[in-house]
Amino acid sequence: MTYRIALIKGDGIGPEVTKAAVAVLDKTAKLFDHSFIYKEALAGGCAIDAVGEPLPAESVRVCKSCDAVLLGAVGGPKWDNLPGRLRPEKAILGLRSELGLFANLRPAALQKALKAFSPLRKDIADKGIDLIFVRELTGGIYFGERGRTDETTAFDTESYSVTEIERIGRKAFGLAVKRRKSVVSVDKANVLESSRLWRETMHRIAKEYPQVLYSDMLVDNAAMQLVTNPSQFDVIVTSNLFGDILSDEAAAVTGSIGLIPSASLGEGTFGLYEPIHGSAPDIAGQGKANPLAAILSAAMLLRYSLSLAEEAAHIESAVEKALLSGARTGDMAQSGAAAPLSTAQMTDAVLSFI
Ligand code: IPM
Ligand code: MN
Repeated sequence: MTYRIALIKGDGIGPEVTKAAVAVLDKTAKLFDHSFIYKEALAGGCAIDAVGEPLPAESVRVCKSCDAVLLGAVGGPKWDNLPGRLRPEKAILGLRSELGLFANLRPAALQKALKAFSPLRKDIADKGIDLIFVRELTGGIYFGERGRTDETTAFDTESYSVTEIERIGRKAFGLAVKRRKSVVSVDKANVLESSRLWRETMHRIAKEYPQVLYSDMLVDNAAMQLVTNPSQFDVIVTSNLFGDILSDEAAAVTGSIGLIPSASLGEGTFGLYEPIHGSAPDIAGQGKANPLAAILSAAMLLRYSLSLAEEAAHIESAVEKALLSGARTGDMAQSGAAAPLSTAQMTDAVLSFI
């Protein structure tokens, strides 16, 4: 089969890590007799430089003409002082809303080979971590009404409709059915009215999935439980803002933020895939970036958008084998260990197991 993938390399280390992902995709395609056609699109700081806006309409059009989007990273200090509507982050938020990507899947798993990198106490890390966030991505305070009432006051609004809560809830429960059949919904229902509606709605959706164990957790408690007892979690469903914060916390707890991919999905199979790490401008262009999160994002793309589960598992297993063989980029290197691998060398290590 031939598939079309929109490629948004973006800024900072984005081009380096997407190059690695494409190399892995192409070798996998050969092995399984597929072909991928890449359509490049500009977004983020490089789009601001080239055409004066972070998300040109042409880029959205290119994405919509493809089966899925693979994105590196956007942003950097060069564009930090621009007004809100011109910031590179607008590209990410614009892609999410224009492409209808309301569900963000962010796994956080402790890789066996990398247990020593977790900042957790050994007895906690030993119990393992294998959870996935289902973060609502096109609603809540990110997209609510905002403004300045006068020179001294500003506001942002958290608002959720039943429809928005139901569809993210069904994504979470649907995923849990294929995993360990447990969902924890995280909210702040002791204070926020929007969270009370969230909780009521989740309880109703939970009844559609009697095989899934369901519970609620307040967000402050969840932040604590993620470091004291993370092995209890399977699927965590939560709002846009809480998901943003907690998924970074969970990533840090696994000790390898350079390894974590993400998928942003809508109602169908179309999706956007990106590493959760940023554009890392401090190491951009030096060949030091860890390409594994981008490579694992490509694996998620195969699984969720192209239904190529076997091919996805093949890539994930190649990454695991590369790590078990001792391959480490600088972000994962331990003091006293051999010189870390470059982006290209790590990519070759993965390719050698494809
Ligand atoms: C993320 C990022 C984005 C977010 C920013 C860049 C808008 O932090 O993908 O988590 O807050 O959603
Ligand atoms: Mn974030």
